Amino acid sequence: MKKRGVFICIEGLDTSGKTTHARRLVRNLRKRGFDAIYTTEPSRGKIGRFVRKHILQRKKRVPSVVEALFFALDRVDHVEKRIKPALEEGKIVVSDRYVYSSLAYQGAAGLDLKWIEEINRLALPPNLAIYIDVPPEVVVERIKRKKSVMERLETQRRVREVYMKFVENGRLVPVNGNRTKDEVAKDILAVVLDFLKKV
Ligand code: TMP
Repeated sequence: MKKRGVFICIEGLDTSGKTTHARRLVRNLRKRGFDAIYTTEPSRGKIGRFVRKHILQRKKRVPSVVEALFFALDRVDHVEKRIKPALEEGKIVVSDRYVYSSLAYQGAAGLDLKWIEEINRLALPPNLAIYIDVPPEVVVERIKRKKSVMERLETQRRVREVYMKFVENGRLVPVNGNRTKDEVAKDILAVVLDFLKKV
């Protein structure tokens, strides 16, 4: 019988450690014999590269509706070109950000969550979605230290509020990200291995 793939996404605020932990999860799964791949959004495809260059790196932000549509477009491209083919080969796909990023960030910018869900209807639902929870105050300090774009505490709070709605309704599994990297990685791996036992 053909092995079924498993689609996992890792979500969190900027500097919450998503990228480190998504990569580390892939390494940990590979060590245990699973065929796992790392991927990210905005994607590395043509549309994702356009989004990074023209939507994220502009000094003046484009309207949130336009951002939401571009992220949704990139997501469909990402699903069709990278995620689905890997799942069909029976791989575990770990995506660093997915549809919950649109819900949280563009939702926090004031867009209707139902509309964001609607424009993302073609995006394959993940089998497991993990939210690395780091307090917005901690995130803002980390961003300052990294000397990157100074994100406002209020913005991070609003983004976290939306993420927490999905934690509360059970769509996102929370992991406390305000601990050492090793502790967070161990918890993420435990959540994933427990999930894999059930599928
Ligand atoms: P990252 O490369 O650190 O993950 O950052 C990508 C930025 O893009 C981050 O600030 C969140 C934002 N983003 C959205 O606002 N909506 C989305 O759907 C995605 C995928 C990213």
